[in-house]
Amino acid sequence: MEVEKNDSIYGGYAGSLEMIAKSLCDKIEDLRKRKKEENGVDTIEFIQSRVKSEESMREKCERKGYPVTCETALTKIYDAIGIRIVCSFLDDVYVNVEMIKNIPNLKVIQEKDYIRHSKPNGYRSYHMIVEIQEPITDISGNKPGTFYAEIQLRTIAMDSWASLEHQLKYKKNVSNQSLIVSELKRCADEIASTDVSMQTIRDMLKD
Ligand code: GTP
Ligand code: MG
Repeated sequence: MEVEKNDSIYGGYAGSLEMIAKSLCDKIEDLRKRKKEENGVDTIEFIQSRVKSEESMREKCERKGYPVTCETALTKIYDAIGIRIVCSFLDDVYVNVEMIKNIPNLKVIQEKDYIRHSKPNGYRSYHMIVEIQEPITDISGNKPGTFYAEIQLRTIAMDSWASLEHQLKYKKNVSNQSLIVSELKRCADEIASTDVSMQTIRDMLKD
């Protein structure tokens, strides 16, 4: 096994992670296209992917009490690769969850349905941690190698809420903190109810 020596938390794997993220997105895009051709409807609005920044990966290793090493980043933390799938309608989220489960060489090792069980702040999304086999030697010396990714699925409305709520985390000394928190929670619940209504209207149009 040859690993480049550099200061990256990802060791010589930074490029591989970018490639694996892209290849996973491509697989999802292919399935999306096939589904669209079959049914005439697109179940996805857009797909985003990212490799976690050096800084936040180091911060996460520390926060979890793990050594800040490449091994931790690749085998103990599962979201070095992050994929986000944004859908128009609620049902599409679940259609895509099932679609992803059928991708070859991919195994779901953790699922969290924050749509049916929202977080106390109102956060909603469907999260999956997946284990993928890739024709690359991994840090343990196995080929095919094992890599991990976090896939988040949500509606457009949930996505815009999460972006807004995310800004709160980075703002220090916000004056109306508690008002903002409760207003965000109210918005999250209104969005959830609107998502259900939108789904109902779409179902009525389909009949
Ligand atoms: P961590 O990655 O350490 O947070 O582990 P965890 O087990 O708490 O994961 P969880 O599934 O709760 O969250 C993973 C990711 O989902 C985060 O990195 C965010 O991208 C997103 N997320 C989770 N909760 C929230 C939230 O309350 N607000 C927003 N905006 N994003 C969230
Ligand atoms: Mg978290």
